[in-house]
Amino acid sequence: MTRHEPRTQGKAKIDGGVASDEKHDSARKHVSGEAIYIDDMAEPAGTLHACLGLSEVAHGAITGFDLSDVRAAPGVVAVLTANDVPGDNDMSPTGLHDEPILADGRVQFFGQPVFAVIAETREAARRACRLAKIDYAEEPALIDVADAADDAKLVTAPLKLERGDSAAAIAAAPHTIRGQMRVGGQDHFYLEGQIAFALPGEDGDVTVFSSTQHPSEVQHMVAHALGVPSHAVTIEVRRMGGGFGGKETQANLFATIAAIAAKKLNRPVKLRPDRDDDMTATGKRHDFLIDYTVGFDDEGGILGVDFTYAARCGYAADLSGPVTDRALFHCDNTYFYPAARAVSRPLYTNTVSNTAFRGFGGPQGMIGAERIIDEVAFALGRDPLEIRKKNLYGTDDRNVTPYHQTVEDNVAERVIAELEASADYAARRREIAAFNAKSPVIKRGLALTPVKFGISFTATHFNQAGALVHVYTDGSVHLNHGGTEMGQGLHTKVAQIVAEEFQIDIDQVKITATTTGKVPNTSATAASSGTDLNGMAAQDAARQIKNRLIAFAAEAHDVPKDQVVFLPGRVRIGNREIPFAELIGEAYMARIQLSAAGFYKTPKIHWDRDKGQGRPFYYFAYGAACAEVSVDTLTGEYMIERVDILHETGRSLNRAIDIGQIEGGFIQGMGWLTTEELIWDGKGRLRTHAPSTYKIPLASDRPKVFNVALADWAENAEPTVHRSKAVGEPPFMLAMCVLHALSDAVASVAGHTVCPRLDAPATPERVLMAVERMKAEGAR
Ligand code: MTE
Ligand code: MOS
Repeated sequence: MTRHEPRTQGKAKIDGGVASDEKHDSARKHVSGEAIYIDDMAEPAGTLHACLGLSEVAHGAITGFDLSDVRAAPGVVAVLTANDVPGDNDMSPTGLHDEPILADGRVQFFGQPVFAVIAETREAARRACRLAKIDYAEEPALIDVADAADDAKLVTAPLKLERGDSAAAIAAAPHTIRGQMRVGGQDHFYLEGQIAFALPGEDGDVTVFSSTQHPSEVQHMVAHALGVPSHAVTIEVRRMGGGFGGKETQANLFATIAAIAAKKLNRPVKLRPDRDDDMTATGKRHDFLIDYTVGFDDEGGILGVDFTYAARCGYAADLSGPVTDRALFHCDNTYFYPAARAVSRPLYTNTVSNTAFRGFGGPQGMIGAERIIDEVAFALGRDPLEIRKKNLYGTDDRNVTPYHQTVEDNVAERVIAELEASADYAARRREIAAFNAKSPVIKRGLALTPVKFGISFTATHFNQAGALVHVYTDGSVHLNHGGTEMGQGLHTKVAQIVAEEFQIDIDQVKITATTTGKVPNTSATAASSGTDLNGMAAQDAARQIKNRLIAFAAEAHDVPKDQVVFLPGRVRIGNREIPFAELIGEAYMARIQLSAAGFYKTPKIHWDRDKGQGRPFYYFAYGAACAEVSVDTLTGEYMIERVDILHETGRSLNRAIDIGQIEGGFIQGMGWLTTEELIWDGKGRLRTHAPSTYKIPLASDRPKVFNVALADWAENAEPTVHRSKAVGEPPFMLAMCVLHALSDAVASVAGHTVCPRLDAPATPERVLMAVERMKAEGAR
């Protein structure tokens, strides 16, 4: 870490500028417990606590609603139902008006919030909740996508991508394979659960501390629910203990309930559900059923593909439209399809409304592409890596995606080649074959998979950001921007960018809580674009101030503007050098404005959803990963022996943070594809709503050898902030290599002649069943 390195030559370099390995600003506080999360804030006297009463059927009308025992329970101050919402009882982020805050007359999933208890303590609120007597007239419930009829209800209009005549290409192909893959969902399992703390103000005003990735949306939802203008509502978030997409829209519920109660009772109200309620009542990653057909030639060259991506969306649209769109945008991953057709089926189900989760449908899309590669490879008896390399995007006529964007920045081939060499793929492939030949029970598997992930919100207007920078007269800097900190290091990176502009140490830049009162009309911190957008906006603000300082210094000291140069900690004006703080003091006395609002919008992007054509992404981020696993073919249990990753983040702003994102993203992706299994029973009850039944990766599940490298030659071809690239989501998908290494180990049982068609998550049970299938098929 730069900060602890000896200072060289009287401060030649600033501490914590761009491209330093500055540690996360809160790293020490996270570990020591000093970081203040919302539940750690000192509670004002009179604070009340809320608990949600959840539906106990998946679908039906409410026929009896007796809350008298709840109201009479000790400590209860109020009980809220749909009738208590003063404004609009809706929190749908889409404008479709399909997500009531509290159920009104009918319920559409097991766990839907029906009422809220407000009590003197959290314990009292929870106990009182149990006393409700609600009768339902149950109706048939659609739980699983596989049960959906052809004319099943969709939550939003499907998307169709089409390039070339895929039906003709598939019909004319020497080989055709048709198959289906199931990909599970995922709970976000943020360490800090959902929470909102509302403080009533005068008139219609309310301030809500919300653990949200999207303060502006929470502001709008609270304003609508209260029936007040947006200016009456302030949302603040210093940090989240993880969001992962689960706080992009899901915080709305908690914030609106807390705000309604706070205004009704004129007392502070906090709502923090316990883990079981959080998991039951909030949306998750969409699980998908992918139908695919691929036509290919004798050499494994793909000629045409046809995909249908059906997703369990739950009872409301939420972000299911853009999530299923993004799945389609990634049905190619790094591969060129001469002809392609892909359609989405965003299915209505009587389950919680699914939402954003790291990768935002991209992982589910890509896994379809990788399944196709496996199918082709096993059908032809080739190493899947050979088929991968054969079908990569290229130049000229092999660089157009199914959505008609030209891939201009392709580095997949280089990343794969370098990783193949550094991971020693070929030699290990031979060693593993030799090992498997003499090991009857333990089988090893190896796979190398690439990632290409599109960066930008596909809704073009979200690609904007604002920032606010103040320089105080002592030269210290206050930084605020529209992005939120969820552990990803956004605040550190943006502070580095501002420190770099002024050439001051990062310690002089104060990182502050995100609030709708300082930077308005912000987008969610999502789509990995936090630094790209807010970093640019903050740079813009800093440059405005800097330009004013340059103009002032040039005039005051009578030198040309190009002779005012910002050096580490000081400014050279002609042949004088003065400390930064001194220049600021002089500028203040001369009445120079030392505060600026910055703004940025991403150039070049456009998207026509009806046509399925455009340039939805500003650029792509690339990486590749190689996993080796060992599988016990008698039990299905497995270990991740080794993982090698090569990922590119353009010119990295902060290698330490980028590597942290890659490691964390990979492990989270591994959990999704291996052990994290969501199970709804026939009644639509989520049976996996706590760590006792839902298994996220443990430290002991990590790869025994874990080599992570950044491509040091990388740089963004587009003029992003310091030519860096987004890193938040892309590494999640590197974990596909684990699923494919498991598939490889399973396939070895039948001599790699049959595609194991391993669904995700590949739990030990599923691996064991696949092994048994292989044994049966291999014997035939
Ligand atoms: N890293 C941590 N530690 N915690 C998180 O919640 N969320 C991920 C990713 N990395 C997340 C994280 C998701 S879903 C996204 S979209 C990005 O961070 C958002 O932040 P960024 O745009 O600043 O990268
Ligand atoms: Mo991330 S799923 O875009 O919040």
